[in-house]
Amino acid sequence: MLTVSSTDRVFILAGAGVSAESGIPTFRGVGGLWRNYRIEEVASPEAWNRDPRLVWEFYSMRRRVASAAKPNPAHFALAKLENTLQERLFACTQNVDNLHEQAGSRNVVHMHGELFKSRCGTCSRPPFDDTNLYEPPAEVPRCECGGRIRPHICWFGEVPFELHRIYRALGQCTLFVAIGTSGVVEPAASFVAHVNGRARTIYVGPENPANTSSFTECYLGKAGEVLPDLFGAL
Ligand code: APR
Repeated sequence: MLTVSSTDRVFILAGAGVSAESGIPTFRGVGGLWRNYRIEEVASPEAWNRDPRLVWEFYSMRRRVASAAKPNPAHFALAKLENTLQERLFACTQNVDNLHEQAGSRNVVHMHGELFKSRCGTCSRPPFDDTNLYEPPAEVPRCECGGRIRPHICWFGEVPFELHRIYRALGQCTLFVAIGTSGVVEPAASFVAHVNGRARTIYVGPENPANTSSFTECYLGKAGEVLPDLFGAL
């Protein structure tokens, strides 16, 4: 169980493993999405320019899977933690589903975007809620400006969202907890190195991540089983 003092500031970095027990596939493990799809064909600006219908087919499939999923005990434990720590918690997720919010979290930064939002790829119209499934033979949706509507997702080769806020929170945190992330995708994989030496750094997941040597403690197990106890006393 973690001891969190009344002055601690906690940074949570969530990865695909947090939603795994809700039935949303991870990316790199057995059954992971990148075992069945090629990143460069469905999740990059080049893919979008080459075949936007294929990209929408991929994200429509992911919308369908995510809309059937329900939050698991890991999401509820994190929502409870937010309730307890209030502004002393900064929750950053790489996940694009909305299961944190469904569990009751109100302030989660989605650094890789949100699956149920879309935006215009051309004009500055802000991202908007969108649960449509855009699959062939339907045409790629268009904005009023004529630009193509794209998923509000940070693709490979693009800059993640809210990095300014994220690095400010990393600079302030005294306890860093990464959960269910393989530690290979930058910049998130380097967040732990950024806080090392001045914050306690903890990893939670069934196996050691690639950046395991940067963590001071690892709790090996499923997020839905470890987190409710880990934060239980708070
Ligand atoms: N609880 C906790 N962790 C789990 C669980 C579970 N029940 N099941 C699997 N995991 C762990 C795996 O051991 C693995 O380390 O979750 C991790 C998932 O790793 P990835 O599939 O690489 O996912 P993630 O690290 O979140 O990927 C980062 O890569 O493709 C991109 O944009 C995508 O946000 C994603 C980013």
